[in-house]
Amino acid sequence: MKTILATGIAGFIGFNFLKYYLRTYPERRVIGLDNLTYAGNYDNFSALSGEEQSRFTFIKRDIADPVLVNSLFEEYDIDGIINFAAETHVDRSIQDPSAFLKTNILGTGVLLDAAKNSWSGKESGKKFLQVSTDEVYGSLGTTGYFTEDTPLDPHSPYSASKAAADLLVKAYYDTYGMPVVITRCSNNYGPYQFPEKLIPLIIQNALHHQPLPIYGDGMQVRDWLYVEDHCQALDAVLEAGRVGEVYNIGGNNEWENIRLIRLLISILQDETGDPQINETLIRFVRDRPGHDRRYAIDSSKIQKDLHWRPTTDFTKGIRTTVTWYLEHTEWLKKVSSGEYLRFYEENYRKR
Ligand code: NAD
Ligand code: TYD
Repeated sequence: MKTILATGIAGFIGFNFLKYYLRTYPERRVIGLDNLTYAGNYDNFSALSGEEQSRFTFIKRDIADPVLVNSLFEEYDIDGIINFAAETHVDRSIQDPSAFLKTNILGTGVLLDAAKNSWSGKESGKKFLQVSTDEVYGSLGTTGYFTEDTPLDPHSPYSASKAAADLLVKAYYDTYGMPVVITRCSNNYGPYQFPEKLIPLIIQNALHHQPLPIYGDGMQVRDWLYVEDHCQALDAVLEAGRVGEVYNIGGNNEWENIRLIRLLISILQDETGDPQINETLIRFVRDRPGHDRRYAIDSSKIQKDLHWRPTTDFTKGIRTTVTWYLEHTEWLKKVSSGEYLRFYEENYRKR
């Protein structure tokens, strides 16, 4: 049975991918490695069917632990690795970059090294997929798109740590001929996203009639992609992506933050009928330091080479997403733990 090692599968994209992958490939097995930081949620796994759970092994450990990671390669015959595990929130990286350096850079290095040692001489058919981000390219002006050839120019400790990991992955290809591939995706939205990120944070705050914080002038632009579309792109790259290549993944769907927040308010009004959810909740707060102005992806390479394209219409995807959070208020409440409330207090106190 083909076996992949997937890290960070208790988080937002990792869990959506786990569900997608077990459903799509009934003959395959997933070893999931996640140390359950504040962003990882063990309860998510109860959404898997019994049959899916029988093909899934969960290991609650750190990707930066070389003894553990090497032992996994001894115990299992691992055909592929998909590395989602990361510290991912820009504002946290501004508060304290240390965990970002350890997990995103050192952790990626540990995974690469263990795979290199185990796969040496039998690389054929193996693949190491590094899940990266468009944020490594820095910021665009009002026109243009990031292509795979855009120079890396990260601005936050988060994006700098992801760029460092990408360079390490490339070095293992150049130096050791490791079968690696890198994807760089734009902002994802959908179910199971931790409510520190823009969309679930706005939904959660609006439901509690709390202020909706907009950094700076709210005219920053993000290119939003439905998480399931991202999972399909990752699947295509894992199956057919050419080793040594980078693939950009994007939604071709740009929104200024303020316009997106107004849309969320109108959907929430519509779905809840609550008159207290309205635009008077919007608060313009101090801008994020080093805030990237615009991200927009040119994904023509993956569209042409691997025949992937985003299929979820944004109007439909965003309503499905809002509805999911309305139906999972217990999930939102549960993940918003004491640790999250401390971060929220600290991050928004100064703004
Ligand atoms: P997330 O923060 O929701 O989840 C991260 C997961 O990694 C959590 O389950 C956490 O417990 C786990 N983790 C963190 N440190 C770990 C460690 N040291 N060892 C083991 N597990 C650890 O993140 P996400 O939004 O699902 O992002 C997943 C990946 O996709 C990241 O690499 C991120 O850079 C990339 N990405 C995210 C987006 C986005 O919009 N969310 C866009 C492009 C790329
Ligand atoms: P975020 O979801 O943190 O993703 P990223 O910074 O990785 O793109 O933020 C998306 C955009 O929303 C970004 O321009 C910052 C902005 N933002 C706010 O205006 N207010 C908020 O409270 C948050 C969390 C983000």
